[in-house]
Amino acid sequence: MLDVIREMEIKSRVYLDSNATTGLSAELQSQLPAFLREFGNPSSIHWASRGPKTVLRETRQELAKQLGCHPLELVFTSGGSESNNTVIRMAFETFAHTERCEFITSQVEHPSVIKAFQNLETLGAVVHYVPVNLDGQLDLEFFNSQLSERTALVSIMLANNETGTIFPVQALAEKAHAVGALFHSDCVQALGKIPLNLQDLGVDYASFSAHKFYALKGSGLLYAKRGAPYVSMIHGGGQERHRRGGTENTLGIFALGLQARRLGETAEHAEQMKDLRDYFEMKLARDISGVKVTAKNGPRLPNTSSLVIPGVDGETLLMSLDLKGYAVSTGAACSSGNPEPSPVLLAMGLSREEAQSSLRVSLGWETTVEEIDAFLLTLKKTVEHLRALQTHGASHDLSP
Ligand SMILES: Cc1ncc(COP(=O)(O)O)c(C=O)c1O
Repeated sequence: MLDVIREMEIKSRVYLDSNATTGLSAELQSQLPAFLREFGNPSSIHWASRGPKTVLRETRQELAKQLGCHPLELVFTSGGSESNNTVIRMAFETFAHTERCEFITSQVEHPSVIKAFQNLETLGAVVHYVPVNLDGQLDLEFFNSQLSERTALVSIMLANNETGTIFPVQALAEKAHAVGALFHSDCVQALGKIPLNLQDLGVDYASFSAHKFYALKGSGLLYAKRGAPYVSMIHGGGQERHRRGGTENTLGIFALGLQARRLGETAEHAEQMKDLRDYFEMKLARDISGVKVTAKNGPRLPNTSSLVIPGVDGETLLMSLDLKGYAVSTGAACSSGNPEPSPVLLAMGLSREEAQSSLRVSLGWETTVEEIDAFLLTLKKTVEHLRALQTHGASHDLSP
């Protein structure tokens, strides 16, 4: 198969950046236009509100069924960043003037968690950042040593966006609860990649984002367990039972509801993605010398390959692949237009040079073996070309 595929034969672009965002399913694309006619405000009390109100109710019910919680434990938000910021800020407001005024998170969280905690530090909060090792695993000794009856909230992600590393959230939540602390998990990258049940996970709060799960941007969820403290961060018209003011993003919620019905397919897609990912990594090790897969030895998402390709600058490689129609990523730092190496990879103990030679390939439900084969061929040629340029000290010409 590989031999017969030439780069020129790729008719369309190949998307291998599903951890950044996912495409829309054909079903969703065909159904969205009809919903545009449902323009009513769900808070109104006339005919125009009935359609959107029903969508809100049915989406909440479907999500609750699929995620293993009660519908009223779900709050619609604008996405993962808002959900993360809401939990962290409200925990601070709840506990700021009590004996429980410390927080624990990890060094490899998404910026919407790290920066929310850094902001709390400016307000006087004590935050402990759990380090990770070269396999991406949390330093549990550090975690245990910082966890105490002074801990208000622990926030540890379920799966890392850059390496795909899965953290033992269930066990950590049990430990946090044993000292009376609350537990939040950023589950944004886990949805649709590994089966997920909130009751089993045992957390008090969880964040989700619709656009990482084949629905629309600007829409997400915050799970808040019944009885867990809740302080609204957006005051307004009393929507979401006074937990999040603002007229609901009805189109985004409609899309999320349609996709939620497909959550049951997760295990099947996870297996397909893992087979493809393992195939990709196996061929990569054979075809390109010196490639290392980051965090390969621990549990990780089935769709994510975080690579270090020595002798190649990750940014240059990314741009060169883009010119040939392949969308991949060098990690979170690049996505913010920041040329600094990824803080996640540095926290794992990679050198700056290694972190600058990194590439993230993240597969989706629709990725095919033909796309992987074509990508492998292009990647091999591009890496060889860039390495040759480096060796001969030539100027940056991206096309072989
Ligand atoms: C782990 C993680 N948390 C949170 C977010 C933010 O989600 P949103 O884009 O919906 O704000 C992202 C998006 O990249 C993410 O990967």
